[in-house]
Amino acid sequence: MYKVLFVSTGNFCRSPSAESVFRSMLEEAGLSDLVGVDSAGTHSYHIGEAPDARAQVAARKRGYDLSMLSARQVTKNDFREFDLILVMDWENLSALQQMCPRMYHHKLMLLMRFSNDFEEATVPDPYMGGSDTFSKVLDYLENACQGVLEVVRKRVAQYQAA
Ligand code: 4NP
Repeated sequence: MYKVLFVSTGNFCRSPSAESVFRSMLEEAGLSDLVGVDSAGTHSYHIGEAPDARAQVAARKRGYDLSMLSARQVTKNDFREFDLILVMDWENLSALQQMCPRMYHHKLMLLMRFSNDFEEATVPDPYMGGSDTFSKVLDYLENACQGVLEVVRKRVAQYQAA
């Protein structure tokens, strides 16, 4: 199974939303049995909590249900287990680069690198923002996850052909 991990600061707003967006794309593409998805945070602030209520409301408006997710922190094992580790911003990238064994550094990437339409390098942190920020975050995540899906689809086809 090819495995994708989304990482943000708290695993409370952006990364659980990304997990849900990407899971829904995998289901639509018929790839759920071949591609795994999870999310985690660089910090421990919200461990065990369901995602931020504002993120849940914004996601529900677009058909994503975040209510069953619960925040966890990145572990060393994640660097071995996941094939692609996609972070929301430079702070997340820097935190993971410090934790990650050198042999796995190639797995760490900014999620927005996969966006076809947005030039921004990072997904803005909505935690201190208004509800419009949560909607903007979903615009970014949906666009970038579409790009991730294209890459993952090719990888899965390569694995199956091998
Ligand atoms: P995230 O949510 O988008 O999942 O990183 C956050 C949760 C908490 C904080 C920032 C972001 N915080 O600064 O406490």
